[in-house]
Amino acid sequence: MLTAPDFRFKNSNTNLPEKGNYTWKTPSNIALVKYWGKREPQLPENPSISFTLDACFTLTTIVFSKRDLRLSELSSKPDKKSIKQVHVNKSVPFEIYFEGVKNDEFKPKIKKFLDRIIHYVPFISNYTLVITSRNSFPHSSGIASSASGLSALALCIMSLEKEINPAITDAYFNKKASFLARLGSGSASRSIEGELVVWGKHEAFNESSDLYGIKYPKEIHKNFKNYHDTILLVDKGEKQVSSTVGHNLMYQHPFAKQRFTQAHENLSKLNIILQNGNLKEFIAIVESEALTLHAMMMSSNPYFILMKPNTLEIIRKIWAFRAQTNSNICFTLDAGANVHILFPEKEKKAVNNFIVSKLLLYCQKGDYICDRVGLGAKQL
Ligand code: PMV
Repeated sequence: MLTAPDFRFKNSNTNLPEKGNYTWKTPSNIALVKYWGKREPQLPENPSISFTLDACFTLTTIVFSKRDLRLSELSSKPDKKSIKQVHVNKSVPFEIYFEGVKNDEFKPKIKKFLDRIIHYVPFISNYTLVITSRNSFPHSSGIASSASGLSALALCIMSLEKEINPAITDAYFNKKASFLARLGSGSASRSIEGELVVWGKHEAFNESSDLYGIKYPKEIHKNFKNYHDTILLVDKGEKQVSSTVGHNLMYQHPFAKQRFTQAHENLSKLNIILQNGNLKEFIAIVESEALTLHAMMMSSNPYFILMKPNTLEIIRKIWAFRAQTNSNICFTLDAGANVHILFPEKEKKAVNNFIVSKLLLYCQKGDYICDRVGLGAKQL
């Protein structure tokens, strides 16, 4: 297992490339055991596990252009002291273009991310970055883009590190990409590999760590191969409660300790289920996790209800359909009103019919996204 100092950039190669241009396509993910509650620096209070998605992705290119630090930063005060400090103190200059348009709205979040990771990738301060990004899903769909967006940035930066230091292994590359992504958004640490990723220390996984996500290390039962996730867009507005506010509410939460214990237990159970293929037990854990996440929000101070009436209608319909047909359909939720409907590959025809005929009326403008489990990020 690696520790934070292992992620410090160590290379004597001072011969940095003049330019670099890297593109990554990185997936979103949906947690089965949820991460809710964190401590500094962006470490989870409990371990989580997620399905990596396929159709919901971010496509990001970063063009790195080496800058003349002496000219750009020091022309006004060319004393020796400030020359030394340029690398440590200066923020990295960057521009961001989102869906083809220059976007300043995302700048504070990206600046914060770059400031947080620079200690581990100090070479980026030698460059100006032009970031171009787009999502496969509509930005205002209520689907969190931070997991796919920040993992894409982390991977582009790792590609530059690999160019400077080709000796790093693929395993180190992935772990450090996840480590960096985590510093931007916790769930982004689970958007590097597929099909399942565990993030957070858990006794059943020797290699697991609070610092980065790892690919689920065991053979997954065939029932979970090609698992589907159809996302019903019930509310496409801005998140009612930001992740940061939500995580912070866990600090004073009267049930927080029990919740963190429960997440450990649920991951232990899910670990066995993922290997033995018991779909009924899978459903029980996944739905309970989703409702627990919402219950924690309802019982915090201040309290929030993140579901909408249509969220509940959909859940009721799913339960009725399951009772009538013995289907293995189930739902999970993020910290919002949209519903992720999970089901096995072999039930896709029946469940798709059910969704189209009975559930789309609860979606805003009838919008939904058909996704499934994916294999992880790809460099293009
Ligand atoms: O990555 P963050 O800080 O946006 O937190 C996301 C938390 C949930 O999406 C609600 C649950 C999870 O584990 O993905």
